[in-house]
Amino acid sequence: MAESGTLHDAFLDELRDAYDAEKQLLKALPKMAKAASAEELRAAFEAHLEETKVQVDRLEQVFASLEEKARGKHCDGIAGIIEEGKSVMEESFDDATMDACLIASGQRAEHYEMAAYGTLIAWARTMGHTQAARLLQQTLDEEKAADEKLSGLADDGINQEAAVANHPSENGGETPRAVSKKAPSKRATKPARR
Ligand SMILES: [Fe+2]
Repeated sequence: MAESGTLHDAFLDELRDAYDAEKQLLKALPKMAKAASAEELRAAFEAHLEETKVQVDRLEQVFASLEEKARGKHCDGIAGIIEEGKSVMEESFDDATMDACLIASGQRAEHYEMAAYGTLIAWARTMGHTQAARLLQQTLDEEKAADEKLSGLADDGINQEAAVANHPSENGGETPRAVSKKAPSKRATKPARR
């Protein structure tokens, strides 16, 4: 009969999944930052890239606290979310719509990570891995803050700007709260990559 795995084994598996997910995001975030038109959105992706580097280090500390070697296991979930984000970036949306879509992609990734870290923290606490739980909580707090930052940018003007760009008459020409732009816009002159 096959040996049955324990919750500790499942925990290590999930940690490896999270470690790989963060590493995939290290590659995806610079592309998202580059595709963003609103200065604040680009800055938010770049800031989260820096946080993600710290999160990778923190996961290495978690592995060390468990006397385990840090290694990743391909995370299909985040790979799918990143792949969807890539397809969006290949669309020929106007700048504001692209920004709104980049926020949507970013938030999908954040929520996936929040779910993963929430589980990891609960399991770590249950098994008495207090140091691991504390470290993982720091990352969960950063993911939540990054998600709220993206919601704020969407609500603060990016969604409205996208709506005005697409439905000028329905919005009665209402001007969205300004979001500063990189000047000049690259996308305005760039042909769609299709
Ligand atoms: Fe993360």
